[in-house]
Amino acid sequence: MCGIIGYNGTDDAIPYLVEGIKNLEYRGYDSFGCAFDKGNSIVIKKDIGRVEDVINKYKLQNLHSNRGVFHTRWATTGSVTVENAHPIMDCTGRIAVAHNGIIENWTELKDSLHGHKFVSNTDTEVLSHLIEENMKGGNTVVDAVKTVFKKIKGSSSFVVLNRDSNELVAIKKGSPLVLGLAKNGIFISSDVPSFVKHTNRVIYLFDGDMAIIGKKHYKISNLISKKIKHNVSIANFSAKDADKGGYEHFMLKEIMEQPGLLKKLEMSDFGEILKIAPLLKTASGVYLVGAGTSFHAARLGARMFRENGINAIPVQGQDLITYKNVILPNDVFIIISQSGETADIITALPIIKANRKIGIINVEGSTLSRAVDILVSLNTGPEKSVASTKAFTLSAVYLTLIAAATAGTLENAISDLKLMNINMYNLLVPSVLAVIRSAAEKINRLDSIFFLGRDYNYIVAVEAALKMKEVAYIHAEAIDAATFKHGPIALVSDKTYAIAFVSGAIEKETLNNLQEVKARGCKIIGIANKPQDVFDIFIRTQDAGRFDFVMQAIIAQLLAYETARKKGLDIDHPKNLAKSVTTL
Ligand code: M6R
Repeated sequence: MCGIIGYNGTDDAIPYLVEGIKNLEYRGYDSFGCAFDKGNSIVIKKDIGRVEDVINKYKLQNLHSNRGVFHTRWATTGSVTVENAHPIMDCTGRIAVAHNGIIENWTELKDSLHGHKFVSNTDTEVLSHLIEENMKGGNTVVDAVKTVFKKIKGSSSFVVLNRDSNELVAIKKGSPLVLGLAKNGIFISSDVPSFVKHTNRVIYLFDGDMAIIGKKHYKISNLISKKIKHNVSIANFSAKDADKGGYEHFMLKEIMEQPGLLKKLEMSDFGEILKIAPLLKTASGVYLVGAGTSFHAARLGARMFRENGINAIPVQGQDLITYKNVILPNDVFIIISQSGETADIITALPIIKANRKIGIINVEGSTLSRAVDILVSLNTGPEKSVASTKAFTLSAVYLTLIAAATAGTLENAISDLKLMNINMYNLLVPSVLAVIRSAAEKINRLDSIFFLGRDYNYIVAVEAALKMKEVAYIHAEAIDAATFKHGPIALVSDKTYAIAFVSGAIEKETLNNLQEVKARGCKIIGIANKPQDVFDIFIRTQDAGRFDFVMQAIIAQLLAYETARKKGLDIDHPKNLAKSVTTL
């Protein structure tokens, strides 16, 4: 995915766009580019590298314009080069296009364009030349964009800056675009945090929407459906929620926000949960669908539902298609997603078109949030660290509460949540943080680490291993502690480290498994609420009963963070990654 922000208004656009694009860097950070109006021409500046560096290189802060579009790229078609950075112009220098998505038929379209000079190796450039081609003979840029939109296959949202008109033209399919209605101008962006400092009045665009963005007015029409209503919404967070709040990294800020968010949850009315529970009780099957970290939340949820007699099946987005012959009309689907934009899930939606869908989603107005019948909004505020932390915890906690509601024990679960929130005060204390740092000191030079646990603890281990991989670049493999003796134990030596999660009913069995591993030389870092002889390093969690996973996950997130920090890595921007995965 990529990040796009444009502005058209009477204020100077450049400071807004400089600030805004930095806020979108979580969406991609291979290369940066911008296009803006200057007299009678469009100026383009772009380069590979991080947004801040390119902005400083061209001293963009010193330039002025009232209309422009900025782009931060996560390469899909075409490698990371200056030429492939967006925006990309047509042959005449009349239009510049910033694009987020993939044009599946771009080679075909490119072959159909004769006499055009291509300077990049991207699918995006096809848009620029097709628009140019369709403007020949006096057509407006709006007409040209409409025609081109109908020709392209796949999911593509893009913004066009046209030298000869006073507007920006934006069109959406797949990747998100949202308008921000400010006092002296209008924003178009991939995400609200990029402009929320200037306005919280937003309009989320739907697939097929084309927006013509003037300096004071906008016009939206839909090229697919006539029935869409475009309401102005008020963003449910402020500029303060979208910055680092004094922390060195977003990841740390977001980890540390969790106790406050859980406290806030304790005070909500749980209306949605009470609505959902009866649906699940009468369903033949409940599928919990997610990707990456959200899939791990789905696994935890499914385990809890099964405990309460519900036939729950956790499924990764891309695998949903493999269930097409067994899905029954009254199966219910719970979709878990931070971004609400994960392509693996969106692509699978047609096969569950007729089924009831519940969303547990963080980003308001996102594609998935609109595709579901009942939405549980995570309300965590923007999650900007590529490594998901607070969205995982909150989704899994919601699922725990929903599972309890299906068993008629929601009140007990809320009491447990309150108790956990009290115990949370003892979790992130200096002594525990010091042990996490010393554990990070021990493991940061390792090439490989095992993450062990059984049952619920194993699912937390899987999530913990993912965090370690993505931010600390250490090969981290989660294995069920009971499975370890069935083969993987052959890998253990006195150089091996395992991070073990111990709690709950299978504590005794887990400890037996850990003894077997330790007997073969493995060092064990135990994440548990009481010390055990088998642990070489003990990181204390607090007892939280059904919410033990929350305590464990927060410790694991911090351990991954501290390990990456020790290695001096760019924690909020791990290599090769982007925050939401909008490709298949
Ligand atoms: O936005 P989503 O929750 O749908 O994203 C799913 C995964 O791409 C995401 O959780 C990914 O695995 C994270 N980088 C993990 O930290």
